[in-house]
Amino acid sequence: MRLHSAAGGGSPWGMDDSTPKNASPNAPQPSPGAVVTPLGQTIYLAADGFLDDLVAELGKVASVDGRLVFVDGPARPAAWAQNIWYDPVRIEFASIKGGAKALRGIQRNWALWSQRHHRRAALIQENLPHVSAKPVVFPSPLPTAPLGSWTLTDESTIIAAARCSSPFRNGEVTFVENRTVPPNRAYLKLWEALTLFGEQPGPGDRCLDLGACPGGWTWVLHELGASVVSVDKAPLDPAIAALPRVEIRQESAFGLKPAAVGPVDWLCCDVICYPTRLLRLVKEWMDSGLAKRFICTLKFQAETDHETARAFAAIPGGRVIHLHHNKHELTWMWPAQ
Ligand SMILES: C[S@@+](CC[C@H](N)C(=O)[O-])C[C@H]1O[C@@H](n2cnc3c(N)ncnc32)[C@H](O)[C@@H]1O
Repeated sequence: MRLHSAAGGGSPWGMDDSTPKNASPNAPQPSPGAVVTPLGQTIYLAADGFLDDLVAELGKVASVDGRLVFVDGPARPAAWAQNIWYDPVRIEFASIKGGAKALRGIQRNWALWSQRHHRRAALIQENLPHVSAKPVVFPSPLPTAPLGSWTLTDESTIIAAARCSSPFRNGEVTFVENRTVPPNRAYLKLWEALTLFGEQPGPGDRCLDLGACPGGWTWVLHELGASVVSVDKAPLDPAIAALPRVEIRQESAFGLKPAAVGPVDWLCCDVICYPTRLLRLVKEWMDSGLAKRFICTLKFQAETDHETARAFAAIPGGRVIHLHHNKHELTWMWPAQ
């Protein structure tokens, strides 16, 4: 099943340097009453609770305002950013209606990131077209409508970006949850990863789920029609273990040789281990050529291992991201090459 991310909403798969939608000469222009100035910066919205990690990852930053990190120059990949605001502008405006008109003049859809003057910001947002915030029913394709982000820095100044890395409001992906079948909430991480991946396992695909217990990820993969080899030292939840296309291997993921498993279309790994150990496992599988795609969680203890996160990010063709459903973790995704 291919659920494709269309152009125009900003690419969640790496940096999007496509031409902005409002670059056409026929595109609406901001309100004549407002003064619009490019910042010459990129703004990174830190994942909730991970501002320090984002700042450490970015290095030299120009300023920090709440969870917004301003960095001079063009955008670069930033795993700890929940959303990246490309080519932001400052809009000086006089009234609520004037602020909303200025935003509407740039494009239709806007998500408010409210840090201060919440009432005034909400009133401006009310004067903008409604943007649905409905939870996503999995599986669904990525939204394709361009979605900008904006915030108020003072009563008469908006900072806004017409294009952002995430097609979801402030990078927050929420789902219509299944509260009855999956044995835990870890399935939401895989739902989010697969939604952003833009491609999903389906019937005929063979998946390897490392660190599968109690079985949330195995359940997701099986629900999509794939067969799953589930590996964990601990036993799976009995209801998941009883699913027809689930093969159980109760052993260590690190002792399992790729040749002993054979080719897999998807290698998913949520094992609790040091990221360095995960990197060695991933390299072994990549060298074997037996895994087509990877979705792996890098789990950190008290300290974030930025060096290993960088080593994952450096693997060509992949991407490291902090999912909305990740805790002190990052997710590395590598599509078929
Ligand atoms: C966060 S849980 C995985 C949750 C799972 N993805 C789900 O959706 O239910 C981490 C799992 O890693 C497993 N684990 C830890 N060390 C392991 C190893 N060496 N080999 C296999 N599994 C391991 C633990 O037993 C635990 O079940």
